[in-house]
Amino acid sequence: MARVVLDHVTKRYGDVVAVNDLSLEIRDREFLVLLGPSGCGKSTALRMIAGLEDLSGGQIAIGDRVVNDVEPKDRDIAMVFQSYALYPHMTVARNIEFPLRSRKVPENERGPLVEEAARALGLSDLLDRKPAQLSGGQRQRVALARAIVRKPSVFLMDEPLSNLDAKLRVQTRAELIELQRRLDATVVYVTHDQVEAMTMGHRIAIMSDGVLQQVGPPQDVYERPANLFVARFIGAPPMNTITGTIASEGGSHILVTAGGAIALPSEVSGAARNATGLEVVLGVRPEHVRILPHDSETQFALDATVAVIESLGHERHVVCRLADEQMVIVRQTVETQRPLEGTAVRLSADPVGLHLFDAATGLRLDAPDPQLVGDGE
Ligand SMILES: Nc1ncnc2c1ncn2[C@@H]1O[C@H](COP(=O)(O)OP(=O)(O)OP(=O)(O)O)[C@@H](O)[C@H]1O
Ligand SMILES: [Mg+2]
Repeated sequence: MARVVLDHVTKRYGDVVAVNDLSLEIRDREFLVLLGPSGCGKSTALRMIAGLEDLSGGQIAIGDRVVNDVEPKDRDIAMVFQSYALYPHMTVARNIEFPLRSRKVPENERGPLVEEAARALGLSDLLDRKPAQLSGGQRQRVALARAIVRKPSVFLMDEPLSNLDAKLRVQTRAELIELQRRLDATVVYVTHDQVEAMTMGHRIAIMSDGVLQQVGPPQDVYERPANLFVARFIGAPPMNTITGTIASEGGSHILVTAGGAIALPSEVSGAARNATGLEVVLGVRPEHVRILPHDSETQFALDATVAVIESLGHERHVVCRLADEQMVIVRQTVETQRPLEGTAVRLSADPVGLHLFDAATGLRLDAPDPQLVGDGE
């Protein structure tokens, strides 16, 4: 069992609270991604699990053992850093073998373990080279092989792909997912890249300013962000967030904002009723906004101007500006008729894709009992 449990874990550096009361359970054999912007406390959290930082408060358990006072080398973990720091004077084989030597594994056992790890990462033909004779991606794989050679039950990875170019990143991403499945290991993976988090994690834990914001499977977090921070952080381009006030209109509710109103679906009507007259933020993903002609008679739509069109080949992002300068991004397939930059349009929103947030607290309104911690199954 290689469960990792963080129980009210806090880390302070003087006045800075790097990690603030973090409680999180990483399940046995789970691939959990710790996601958040620079400085939010991801590496600090990982380093505390590894035993490289002391805790200011709380408790960490690996398996059934509280490890607060256990030395890093006795925690049955391996850590892979962004700067993978291979020994330049040693061959690939010796680099991979290093953790076995320092743990005094007998020589006759070391050879087969090195070969197995090298094979798992496609390095069998490179064992005699020195790091300087490898590409960046190959070096990264040596660092991974060095981590897996001891067969620890938990892997801690801190942005291990960030030194790779975009193409190699995508390839290595897939290799890492396969590797985790093959090794049946528990992985805690730190990244600030939400695409990496969405594609790799069984669950994502999102942090901001040292505080955990939401935990759940990628699709759940995408479809039901717990607050505005998560809504804006997950998704590229990010979710549109339009500020307005709620009014009632013939038994249902609408959001009134610059240049028009949007009808709110029945799913959010309970939340809307409680927020009538208050300032709220409507969240709508770019794929759920439609562009209508400026003379469209549709009752619920917003007047806007097309500011910029970004073409990505397979789709385009139409950046529109509302009357009060709020920006709304519309994701279109290339088959859709391309609007003209600078022209007036109207924007409507699919009722299925609407989210309501409290403008003051940022919390999701259409979830009276917000289920902050989602289940992986
Ligand atoms: N040794 C230290 N002394 C003082 N402050 C520190 C120390 N280490 C980290 N911090 C602070 O703690 C906060 C969290 O840092 P951390 O390295 O965990 O962020 P991160 O989420 O990993 O960011 P990045 O994505 O940039 O790596 C930051 O504000 C950082 O400045
Ligand atoms: Mg970091």
